[in-house]
Amino acid sequence: MHRTGLSAPDPGRKCRRAPPPVANSLATPGAAPLLESVSSAPLPRRAFLRRAAASATATAAALTAPHVVARDTAAGYTGAEIDERLARGQPLAGLTRADLPTPSLLLDLDAFEANVAKLAAHTRAAGLALRPHAKTHKCVEIARRQRAAGAVGVCVATLREAEAMAAGGIGGLLITSELAGPEKIRRLLRLVRAQPDTLCVVDQLPHAEQLDAAARAAGLNLPVLLDVDPGSRRTGVAAGAPAETLARVVARLPHLRLRGFHCYSGSSAHVVGYAARRDHSHAALAPALASFAALRRDGLPLEVFSGGSTGTYNIDPGLPGLTELQCGSYVFMDVDYRRIGGRSGALYEDFAPSLTVLATVISQPAPDRATVDAGLKAFATDKRFGPDFKDLPGAKFSYGGDEHGIVDLAGAARSLRLGDRLEFIVPHCDPNVNLYDRFYCLRGDRVEAVWPIARGYA
Ligand SMILES: Cc1ncc(COP(=O)(O)O)c(C=O)c1O
Repeated sequence: MHRTGLSAPDPGRKCRRAPPPVANSLATPGAAPLLESVSSAPLPRRAFLRRAAASATATAAALTAPHVVARDTAAGYTGAEIDERLARGQPLAGLTRADLPTPSLLLDLDAFEANVAKLAAHTRAAGLALRPHAKTHKCVEIARRQRAAGAVGVCVATLREAEAMAAGGIGGLLITSELAGPEKIRRLLRLVRAQPDTLCVVDQLPHAEQLDAAARAAGLNLPVLLDVDPGSRRTGVAAGAPAETLARVVARLPHLRLRGFHCYSGSSAHVVGYAARRDHSHAALAPALASFAALRRDGLPLEVFSGGSTGTYNIDPGLPGLTELQCGSYVFMDVDYRRIGGRSGALYEDFAPSLTVLATVISQPAPDRATVDAGLKAFATDKRFGPDFKDLPGAKFSYGGDEHGIVDLAGAARSLRLGDRLEFIVPHCDPNVNLYDRFYCLRGDRVEAVWPIARGYA
């Protein structure tokens, strides 16, 4: 039951200070993460809220048709209240899924941990290094777990992510987007001064010369990878003569240290069907791998060839020359990935969906239709499809506006009632994560931890 339904004053709230801003351990080097173990002690306001909720439920029952009677008697907390408990060093104390505000982002820890372990074991067995892409999660706590499972570091797409990871003590960073312009170069150099093993990418000579000049002025030596285009036409120098010529010039710049190639084939990752995906990825990476081999034969000391994705984690390892995988989405999965098909089935189930958006039924205008509080602002909308229901087979979702999602229950396996909670597998995990401040990490129904997300760009 939610407090909007309560008319009695909340004694626990009167004496409460204004909540502090969201504590973010990413911003403060060495700060303790917002990670709490759960005890079974009751929440202080719970008894009061339970009584109030029960009375509100009774009132609702008297006023409404049976199918819209609220039945959830959980306390219900705002994100700020949960953050406040954590900032005060109070335990999460029995907080469950039912207490969480909606819409919010949930992480199923069992599924997440299985995904982390599976890819780590796979890359180890294939004799490759793993540098998972942290653009997917933007979360130091997740990067720590990936490193603990054997990752050599993490990839990042932005300086915001890189700085957050560095502040959280994550080394072995590879920044996979070109950093051009004085502000980005200044921040890059600051980062490399603090973490000299940080890798960045270059794909054209003027950029390499700017980095070389800035590194000279800062008295630094900058490790770089040549960004080679696998045919995606996003960034990267073309494989073959253009890449080989540029590599030889960059290798001679005195303040850069060319360590290898970066070649990520995003257009291969979601090709539907295992065989088609394998053919696409092999064709995309082959020219870059040939250039890499040619330069090594000529004596260039190239040690790193970084590429691969969640869709090709079991396709690329056979390629001669590839040294590391940079998969990202495997930790969470999403609707987009589930559709690409696995080696032996129409659904891609190599990794388990661990990320969901929790929503509440806020209106039920008809028995076969419900409205939830998760709409365009709760999900990434870059795909042609919306979210999938985690456990409501036969129901159909459509967007009903910024804050509303419409659930068509005509073919659904069960009905819904006002106040019911639903979980949705997100359409596209990376941009979906960027809409939220924190993951609520669940072990079964219990909230075991709250992990901040370094969202945004600043
Ligand atoms: C450069 C780069 N590397 C790796 C990845 C991870 O790919 P995936 O999430 O498909 O595993 C991405 C994702 O967009 C990326 O942009």
